[in-house]
Amino acid sequence: MSLLKRLGTTQDLAGQEQSNKTQQPGTQRSGTTGNLGGSQTQNTGQQGQQQSGETAERSGGSGELGALRRPSIGGTQQQTGSTQQKSDNFNELKSRIQNRLISELDPRMDLGNQEEVRRTVEETFASVLESENIVLTRVERMRLFEAISAEILGYGPIEPLLKDESVSEVMVNGPNQTYVERAGRLERTDVVFQDDDHVMRVIDRIVSPLGRRIDESSPMVDARLPDGSRINAVIPPISLVGPTLTIRKFAKDPLTSDDLVRFGTLTPEIVTFLKACVEARLNIIVSGGTGSGKTTMLNVLSSFIPDDERIVTIENAAELQLRQDHVVTLESRPPNIEGRGEVSIQDLVVNSLRMRPDRVVVGECRAGETLDMLQAMNTGHDGSLTTVHSNGPRDTLARLETMCLMAGYDLPIRAIREQIASAVDLILHQSRLKDGSRRVTYITEVQGMEGDVIVLQDVFTFEQTGQENGKIIGAIKPTGIRPKFVEQFESHSIYLPPNIFGTSYERLF
Ligand SMILES: Nc1ncnc2c1ncn2[C@@H]1O[C@H](COP(=O)(O)OP(=O)(O)OP(=O)(O)O)[C@@H](O)[C@H]1O
Ligand SMILES: [Mg+2]
Repeated sequence: MSLLKRLGTTQDLAGQEQSNKTQQPGTQRSGTTGNLGGSQTQNTGQQGQQQSGETAERSGGSGELGALRRPSIGGTQQQTGSTQQKSDNFNELKSRIQNRLISELDPRMDLGNQEEVRRTVEETFASVLESENIVLTRVERMRLFEAISAEILGYGPIEPLLKDESVSEVMVNGPNQTYVERAGRLERTDVVFQDDDHVMRVIDRIVSPLGRRIDESSPMVDARLPDGSRINAVIPPISLVGPTLTIRKFAKDPLTSDDLVRFGTLTPEIVTFLKACVEARLNIIVSGGTGSGKTTMLNVLSSFIPDDERIVTIENAAELQLRQDHVVTLESRPPNIEGRGEVSIQDLVVNSLRMRPDRVVVGECRAGETLDMLQAMNTGHDGSLTTVHSNGPRDTLARLETMCLMAGYDLPIRAIREQIASAVDLILHQSRLKDGSRRVTYITEVQGMEGDVIVLQDVFTFEQTGQENGKIIGAIKPTGIRPKFVEQFESHSIYLPPNIFGTSYERLF
């Protein structure tokens, strides 16, 4: 990607202050759309040269520079006094220096060599500050440089959020609103973009190196950052608040069962129980609402798969991080521009059965692949794991039914229920509670059919005992019922102490 494409047309940036002041919102909007299309595909080298020339001319104009030149941001802040103006001044100075910098940098510079680009940017930055007679304190200078290099080398205003380890998710709702999730809670940040175009450039920078595109004709995209973070972008006209970007940051060290015990999501007894379930090759569905920790739990369960088994993982965007040696990771692919070349999760599930898997782990079942997955579970590929969006164990069954119908085979509902009842052994349901904590709220056995109804039996449930400073107090506890599949444990020589289920030895024997 050329430097100019990375930053948008410099002409836009230079002209923006003016247009912001003079144009009506309506006119700005139409200008934006035109530019979005343009910046997507054909920003040729020649165009770039022209634009950079133009910018050089604009920014070189002594009148404009003279008017904006000021000794230090601090001085201006004192004059204005208001925080809003402080950030306006910073942004103004930033875009001015940035424009000068772009006009002085070679637009054909190879942005792949990050170290060299950073050094060149640093040198040019210093010379621009000097030639413009701008005096900044060390802190201001660092801040300005970081903001500008984030525009050129990183992901613009959200770069600091992506680097912040306490942030687990970043949500950009158009140019003026950015939220993050910290410790399970949503917080609004003071990060703002200049305009829709600015957000678009960041989105484009993320998706175009991946060979993906986003424009009016395909306004939604799912992708992954090079560090593994999962991103989703939706742009106008589908999004009415401007281009939106949601980033689920990749945990370098994925949460382990010990972490989940520490957070109160699991107890050591339940970890022992779940380990036994995985080793005994039960088919397990992890269910829960969005962001409730399903993928994390799937990763933890997968970590219990013995080392000598061949695991095939299937996901839309590879999020699972298995530690075992023998893992084949497959990722689905959306159709290309001509609508061809799609490889769906369903294709991958069907294909995986020919790969001699000991375990099939599907990141999430969302549609027709559910039927293939259930059939696989029923035909010798037991010990499979997947996740489903739902509101509770019973709802998980309803979702499975609906998704099987989506396979389009016109099967009678009873046949589907029988498939579900015989394939699925256990449902582990998670919730994100009001205080932001993620808890396992149900561990439920699927016992079979009674008439037309699938019989469920809760083995563990979450009991809330109170609230303290907004924190929910409670724990997941056994219901006292010993699941029927315990016999399966025994055939795998796994013996659990019966008190795990809240049952005494007397009741067992
Ligand atoms: N038990 C937990 N305690 C605290 N944080 C957790 C827990 N489980 C997951 N998280 C964090 O919550 C976020 C969402 O987790 P995860 O991706 O597993 O959710 P999900 O249910 O798969 O979401 P989605 O529905 O979007 O696929 C991640 O940042 C993860 O680190
Ligand atoms: Mg997930």
